[in-house]
Amino acid sequence: MTSNGKKSKIFSSDEMGIIGNSPVIQQIRAIIQQIAPTNIPVLILGESGSGKELVARAIHQHSTRSKNRMIIVNCGAIPEGILESELFGHQRGAFTGAVESRKGYFELADGGTLFLDEIGEMPLETQVKVLRVLEDKEFLRVGGSTPQKVDVRIIAATNRDLGAAVKEGEFRLDLYYRINAVKIVLPPLRKRKEDIPLLVKKFAKEICAENHIDFKGFTPEALKAFQEYSWPGNIRELKNFVQMIIILEKGESITRKMVYEHFGQQETVDRNLLVPLNIPTDKAERELIYRVLLELRSEIAQIKDFLFSNLPASHKVLPSSLPVWTGPVRNSRIPVEEATIVPETDNKIPTLEKAEKELILRALDKSNWNKRKAAKLLDISERTLYRKIKEYDFDNYKKIQ
Ligand SMILES: Nc1ncnc2c1ncn2[C@@H]1O[C@H](COP(=O)(O)OP(=O)(O)OP(=O)(O)O)[C@@H](O)[C@H]1O
Ligand SMILES: [Mg+2]
Repeated sequence: MTSNGKKSKIFSSDEMGIIGNSPVIQQIRAIIQQIAPTNIPVLILGESGSGKELVARAIHQHSTRSKNRMIIVNCGAIPEGILESELFGHQRGAFTGAVESRKGYFELADGGTLFLDEIGEMPLETQVKVLRVLEDKEFLRVGGSTPQKVDVRIIAATNRDLGAAVKEGEFRLDLYYRINAVKIVLPPLRKRKEDIPLLVKKFAKEICAENHIDFKGFTPEALKAFQEYSWPGNIRELKNFVQMIIILEKGESITRKMVYEHFGQQETVDRNLLVPLNIPTDKAERELIYRVLLELRSEIAQIKDFLFSNLPASHKVLPSSLPVWTGPVRNSRIPVEEATIVPETDNKIPTLEKAEKELILRALDKSNWNKRKAAKLLDISERTLYRKIKEYDFDNYKKIQ
């Protein structure tokens, strides 16, 4: 019996939207069912695309809070300077530009759920304040003096190793304990390949219904082929792939050969990172890392090439004397040994800015405008990438593409 007296019931994957029959997914569905009606904070861990947000939504939907809002905050994407006022709101006049008082996400989620996504990216000062709300159930708006009372259930998620972040002093131990009351760890798709055929069929059904496609289905060998890939982008990548293959093959019956042809044609970062089959996971992961490094090396070489081809004549090109990139240069028009630049004192900044823009655009293109992946490629935080995108107005650039 559940706490509200109704007979307890095991939720099916359809009711929760969390597809999979692997033991680990069945267990996760059971945990969600058990904890959803409570107010216990939940920490969801898992790689990108593994279903963290889906689990958070399922918890909210099956809780007594479901009639109220679930607010999703991406702590990594909000600029550090405004995260606090976004979370806690502000009073009029609290800072320049605060022309009127505003509620923050905690107040907006009152009676509901606040999903703190990418909590590992939250600055330490903000962590202190979030801990205080969790403990006292009240907080002050930025610039305010009257405590605001809230009743919010916190669900947090990250793909960072928070334990390691605690050791490095980047995450507060007290907050870690507080949000870690229940931990749900989503395994990467490659560790539960038995769920792949089910997911593929489910996504195919959805895609065909949405696009009115009369689909002839997958051959059994095609379904096996899906299980032979490592899916570094997890379920998100699988879903996009199924969508792409069904649309491009116009609903024809999909064979193993077709699946492999499409693996080969993929253009995003992950697609280029197709790893050999039937090798141990750690070896496959190492291979992936090597490929990413090679990609990056060649990207840097291309940027360098771009830089040189845009150099103003006033810049001198001298024989090597300063440290420069010495790796292989693809399509470079200037031999490496001649490529050391000594800028004159009136060094033109636009050249560097251009290079930065180009590098960011390439990373965005490569990752299909998935900002998280692009930030990883560039080895910068997602927050920095968001700032640069805004600074260079790249969202508008994307729209006119
Ligand atoms: N078990 C599942 N069954 C059906 N669909 C799933 C499942 N897990 C994830 N998905 C789908 O895969 C996509 C990615 O999931 P989600 O956004 O929850 O991942 P995430 O872990 O939050 O990723 P990120 O770290 O990049 O934010 C979504 O479209 C989601 O609906
Ligand atoms: Mg997410």
